[in-house]
Amino acid sequence: MSDPGSQPDVPPEAWAGVHRGPLREGEWVRLVDSKGRRHNFCLEAGKRFFSNRGHLEHDELIGREEGFTVTSSGGGEYLVFRPLLSEFVVSMPRGAAVVYPKDSAQIIAMADVFPGAHVVEAGVGSGALTCSLLRAVGPHGRVLSFERREEFAEVARRNVTQFFGTKDDHGHPAWELRLGDLAEELPASGERCDRLILDMLAPWECLEAAASALLPGGILCAYVATTTQLSRTVESIRVHGGFTEPQAWESLVRDWHVEGLAVRPGHAMIGHTAFLVTARRMAPGQRPPMKRRRPAPGAYGPDYTGPRPPGVPVELPEE
Ligand SMILES: C[S@@+](CC[C@H](N)C(=O)[O-])C[C@H]1O[C@@H](n2cnc3c(N)ncnc32)[C@H](O)[C@@H]1O
Repeated sequence: MSDPGSQPDVPPEAWAGVHRGPLREGEWVRLVDSKGRRHNFCLEAGKRFFSNRGHLEHDELIGREEGFTVTSSGGGEYLVFRPLLSEFVVSMPRGAAVVYPKDSAQIIAMADVFPGAHVVEAGVGSGALTCSLLRAVGPHGRVLSFERREEFAEVARRNVTQFFGTKDDHGHPAWELRLGDLAEELPASGERCDRLILDMLAPWECLEAAASALLPGGILCAYVATTTQLSRTVESIRVHGGFTEPQAWESLVRDWHVEGLAVRPGHAMIGHTAFLVTARRMAPGQRPPMKRRRPAPGAYGPDYTGPRPPGVPVELPEE
């Protein structure tokens, strides 16, 4: 990891993936037409952007301050801005499914990812969450990302470098990407962290590794798509015993249509992305207090086959 202070040519906002000033060659722009259709492309001198309304010369955009309207050869009007992080991650090339901005925001807030934090994450997938983590920890933090599939790691490397890279393409100083399985590689690395984020099919397989790396008081955060994964993750954290009682939730975001007297919820909505689980790491040898409340009747009955928290016997079916 390079020392951010040793790169005086890099403006501070570059570590947020933000560029100021006139649009430059090599930067990405986002064009939005009158119907809300979006087009993202990289500016190259001498190139043309083609749409169903004719074409535009990239040279017409290079050198202008973002936030203008441009007209194509066929009369189409386009709004021109640099993409925001939330826009970039949903339009960038994907290997694996990405963490959507509404969930990245929840992860940053509820896993308390702070400037200067040391964060470990797996898997890196397409690098969407990585971008939010890097922005939150800043140049003096650390994000160590594990990915076990080389082709996904490559996609993530390109996406993250594209967002944070400057003209020298040196990437973000807080980021390190390692190829391998977190469950094996993290304990071997001896790395310790404040926050550990798992976005993968089987986070429970990484619990031991997470517990060994997380500092006391640190936060484990898992992002899982299905209820079966949610159940197994939560129960496995309870069974481990070295974490506080897990919190589980999901977030739903609904757009609103606001126009004169027509003020109502939007018709379309993303119904489901994933569930989030957080728990705090206890100090070595410490356990959270036993739950006083008895489980709901039938919760751990004979049909329940998942991990069984300590002190929860198999309930016998009623006669
Ligand atoms: C849904 S994707 C992650 C998406 C990513 N968070 C993003 O926002 O772009 C899940 C990734 O986890 C990787 N993976 C699964 N288990 C892993 C493990 N134990 N260690 C490292 N990577 C793992 C998979 O290869 C896959 O690329």
